[in-house]
Amino acid sequence: MADSNGYYDLDLKRVMVLDNYEEMSKAAAEIVINTIKNKERTVLGMATGSTPLGLYGNLVQGYKQGKVDFSNTVSFNLDEYVGLDSGHSQSYNYYMRENLFSLVNIEHDHVNIPHGFSENSDKDCNEDCINYETKIQQSGGIDLQILGIGNNGHIGFNEPGTSFDSITRKVKLADETIKANARFFDDESDVPKYAISMGIKSIMRARKIILLASGIEKAHAIEKTVKGSITNMVPASILQLHPEVIYIVDKDAGKNL
Ligand code: F6R
Repeated sequence: MADSNGYYDLDLKRVMVLDNYEEMSKAAAEIVINTIKNKERTVLGMATGSTPLGLYGNLVQGYKQGKVDFSNTVSFNLDEYVGLDSGHSQSYNYYMRENLFSLVNIEHDHVNIPHGFSENSDKDCNEDCINYETKIQQSGGIDLQILGIGNNGHIGFNEPGTSFDSITRKVKLADETIKANARFFDDESDVPKYAISMGIKSIMRARKIILLASGIEKAHAIEKTVKGSITNMVPASILQLHPEVIYIVDKDAGKNL
């Protein structure tokens, strides 16, 4: 049974199982908006992919209705593909501009997205990655991190097997991630094989985290994340050790909880 705030209490984990994608997106937007409203300056960690699109739509609507002001918000994206320039329609830079940043009043220089298309991006852990991590710390750290989850339990592009000590670096995408993301490209062979991703440690440093999941194909990953043992073969399972995480899922993704 959900309590009066809509939370299911699974061994003290905060899980919201909502009817559908729209409800999931609205609940997440409410948390983001309240976080921004209650702080003079907010540092947000952003995710891309299909899951947060509804959340971003609600944030844009909230902004247009005067419910939220992004002028004192700083953002850091979780990840970016290596090899796609910021104008490429599948780059996460482009995605964020199209779906959020160009539609609200966030300052251009408050936006941070890993560089996937620089002369450094062929190196494994390059200067850009270290600078990105340093910039997060210098900005005061992430107040609220938004996460989606891969079918294989990845968060950011931290694939199964990733060290829990990882920070921002270049990563190789798992075959299942390339397959899952092929839907955004003309052909599976066009999906980049590498990305720059914040690490598990970078994510766990956020003060608060919301993880969103929608659809039956996420049910297994959500079950293992929330109720399974903590293992780097299910990277999201480390969130069980975070003091302030809320899992917001729709009925399908929460089917096994
Ligand atoms: C994207 C990201 C990924 C996605 C995950 C789910 O920035 O970090 O972890 O959140 O792959 O993607 P969707 O939402 O497309 O199912």
